[in-house]
Amino acid sequence: MSSSFTAATIEYIKPFTDQNPGTSGLRKRTKVFQQKYYSESFIQATLSNVVDSSDVSLLVGGDGRYWSEEICQTIIKLSAGNKVKTVYVAKDSILSTPAASNLIRTLKLSGGFLLTASHNPGGPDYDFGIKYNCGNGGPAPEKLTNAIYQKTLEQNSYTTVSALPIIDLKTLASYTFEIQNALGESWSTTVHVIDAIKDYVTLMKEIFDFPTIQNFLKKSNAKILLDSMNGVTGPYATQILVHELKLNNSSVMNNVPKADFGGIHPDPNLTYAASLAEKTWSENIDLGAASDGDGDRNMIVAKDNVFVNPSDSVAVIADNAHLIPFFKKSGVKGLARSMPTSMALDRVAKRKNLQFYEVPTGWKFFGNLMDAGKLSICGEESFGTGSDHIREKDGIWAILAWLNILAASNAEKTFEQGFIGVKEILENHYRIYGRNYFTRYDYEEVSSEGGAELMKYLRNLVSAENKTHVVGKKYTGNGETYVVKKCDDFSYTDPVDGSVSQKQGVYFVFEDESRIVYRASGTGSQGATIRVYVEKYEATNYLTEASTALSGLVSIAKELGKIKEFTGRDEPTVIT
Ligand code: G6P
Ligand code: ZN
Repeated sequence: MSSSFTAATIEYIKPFTDQNPGTSGLRKRTKVFQQKYYSESFIQATLSNVVDSSDVSLLVGGDGRYWSEEICQTIIKLSAGNKVKTVYVAKDSILSTPAASNLIRTLKLSGGFLLTASHNPGGPDYDFGIKYNCGNGGPAPEKLTNAIYQKTLEQNSYTTVSALPIIDLKTLASYTFEIQNALGESWSTTVHVIDAIKDYVTLMKEIFDFPTIQNFLKKSNAKILLDSMNGVTGPYATQILVHELKLNNSSVMNNVPKADFGGIHPDPNLTYAASLAEKTWSENIDLGAASDGDGDRNMIVAKDNVFVNPSDSVAVIADNAHLIPFFKKSGVKGLARSMPTSMALDRVAKRKNLQFYEVPTGWKFFGNLMDAGKLSICGEESFGTGSDHIREKDGIWAILAWLNILAASNAEKTFEQGFIGVKEILENHYRIYGRNYFTRYDYEEVSSEGGAELMKYLRNLVSAENKTHVVGKKYTGNGETYVVKKCDDFSYTDPVDGSVSQKQGVYFVFEDESRIVYRASGTGSQGATIRVYVEKYEATNYLTEASTALSGLVSIAKELGKIKEFTGRDEPTVIT
């Protein structure tokens, strides 16, 4: 189909001042994006920064939340107006963040717009988001997000092709539009509506040992349950578990993406995915898992009340990487975790003599190491696990990694006496490495001032002039005493580009290697969220309930950070 259209510049009165995207993109209440010209301003600012030749190709899609399809059409029109050569749009706008990262890489695109607010609730009264990923498949670096923000502050117009027809996102098809502008320039823009599920499934089949998994599932009758929380992973999970691995339909739940996630807060943790955990525990499910709205986070649980802490999950995957074909082939180049993530992974790196990196919170830091060929497997306590197969964390990948490990660990079994399950794999790990008990307390939506004051207080406590009074100090909680060995505000120098990231979280390490970390969340959309991370290492005593093992340190953490005083809260909103 070919028709001729006119690109025109539309002016608005004054620039927007609140469009500073983090590396997770611009995330606001949906109503904010629905203001006249608001989304257009951000999309134009992004296009102005990324359309640098006549050969630009972009991917568009997202987690299916409310307002996505409208913004897909807006992006298509502005892309055409800005001389983008090719736009690939996901059918029904359904495109998980990991699948987007993969498609950008395999189709060698310039980048892509991801319409998501990740694990935040969706709908007219909740959140929407626009995130830009670059040609490596990873989130835009700060240099670019700053430039986009700068542009939004300066510009008061955008260029679009208003008359472009609404693209039918339900049907796979291609359209080419001939476009001209008032300057007499002409160009063409092609729009492809593509299947965004297929390539991702192919990638997973290349990475993991599907025949061994399938064989295991068939012989063992293992019960698997994947909760997509009404987010974007539903169609991916159904294709992989039901169609490829031949499990029945009861192995997937909440697997049809919904614009408001069916009222679910699509964040896979023990608070928001409690129903999955309860079902797994009460119905003796061998492997239960959940993923978030846009499919990059994951939670793993199993029968016998097992919850696999994300810090342990990445350590177990790294320790068993030799069972996964992708790593068998390419080897493991290095391991990395974010600073607040427990030190379980450090022990794996040490034992296996692998390069190890501790980076600030945020996947972009891993991406840099991966692009430089220094890193293969990494994870964060915030339910993010992944590898260098793409440049985003990957929920389904993590779930398949566990399935692959489970299947390969039982490959020689006859199954008459049952099989090694998630619990045994975890306990084996603790037996070899000891256990890093870990918990995180979240104080969500506290006042911005209170949150800022709390962090200021702690930074001051660990500042060069004050820390001498803190180091050596004894703290007691629940009858346990800990002595501070070191404390600081975490700072990171990227070994690839030398960039320095400061003020990444205040930590206290005690003499027995226990740790308390305080950080202000960078992803909330309302007020401030304070996170407190507590960790304690035990070499042999690995069967205690985490909350019991950590109770002393938790009470010290509350006191040390004057949590009640600054947040007004007695208890956190979420405990992981
Ligand atoms: C996003 C990023 C993660 C990061 C997390 C931290 O999910 O992709 O890499 O760990 O945010 O969130 P927080 O709210 O703790 O800043
Ligand atoms: Zn997410």
